[in-house]
Amino acid sequence: MPVQAVDPESLKEAGRLLKAGQLVVFPTETVYGLGANALDPAAVQRIFDAKGRPADNPLIVHVASIEAAKKLVSSWPPLADRFARAFWPGPLTLVLPRAPHVPDAVTAGLDSVAIRVPAHPVAQAVLRACGVPIAAPSANTSGRPSPTTAQHAESDFGDKVSLYLDGGPATVGVESTVVSVLGPDPVLLRLGAISREILEKMVPKWGKADGTGPALSPGTKHRHYAPQAKVRLVPAAQMATEWRQKGGDPKIAFIVSAETAAAGMAGRNVGIPGTRSDAEAWAHELFALLRKFDRKTEILVEPISEKGLGAAVMERLRKAAQS
Ligand code: TXA
Ligand code: MG
Repeated sequence: MPVQAVDPESLKEAGRLLKAGQLVVFPTETVYGLGANALDPAAVQRIFDAKGRPADNPLIVHVASIEAAKKLVSSWPPLADRFARAFWPGPLTLVLPRAPHVPDAVTAGLDSVAIRVPAHPVAQAVLRACGVPIAAPSANTSGRPSPTTAQHAESDFGDKVSLYLDGGPATVGVESTVVSVLGPDPVLLRLGAISREILEKMVPKWGKADGTGPALSPGTKHRHYAPQAKVRLVPAAQMATEWRQKGGDPKIAFIVSAETAAAGMAGRNVGIPGTRSDAEAWAHELFALLRKFDRKTEILVEPISEKGLGAAVMERLRKAAQS
């Protein structure tokens, strides 16, 4: 049963399992989510147990619409309205004042709750099928690269999860951008699928996550995105030297731009997400390549420009390289 194609039967089963307090992996436009009924504390606890997630790291609640989001908050600030109208359904998560009935298990005891309306048709169908808000972190064991396919999730959780819905590769490949709208100015808590540039075009003035206002998303301080292999960032100019020395070693992998690869880098241990300026392609391929090269001893990665989605890609890469 584990990994199933999306059809009316498997969607119905997903709805039934979620209502019964079980875990279901489903696709979203960013990455795959490990879902549970957000209003059922025991179900939410299963997420933390399955992931080995630190208890201080709150979850994002997924709902089908702005109306459904409003039921989970104690107030709906004007900023929330602006962002929600502009970006929902889509890869933006808003941190809002929580309503009392949202379980502590979801918010890690915070007064706020993170909410997003996913755009992926399968995520929307799952929400309709279960009729409850779904708490869903990325469907990876804590610390591992996020999953962009159902198979990635299945390899982390096996039979700990009742059902994996296979909706093909995630469209974006990096997680949602997290924005706090708790104060007078919005605060960017996690870089993600919607770039800083796009957000700042809409609202020019932003607060800082510097201890005077809201803290960065708790999750951003934990170990993240790391394959078993050691990840090392290597500037493009040095890559040719590394390739000459290590290109023949099957335990070393390379993730490089098309431009760098054109100098003669090819083979099964070379991943080429796209050209240097194609941040979308890098976002789409990054986690899958880190997983593909999981068992190598080392993965050498060329940094890309931090414009647009490139900022989120580089933030993930630096975290992967830290551990
Ligand atoms: O794209 C995504 O956001 C994916 C898909 C499945 O929706 N989900 C995801 O969840 O990335 P997760 O758990 O891997 O990351 C959620 C992030 C964490 O950094 C967490 O600390 C932050 O959101 N977060 C959740 N609730 C928060 C809150 N009340 N205040 C501040 N940050 C919060
Ligand atoms: Mg995650």
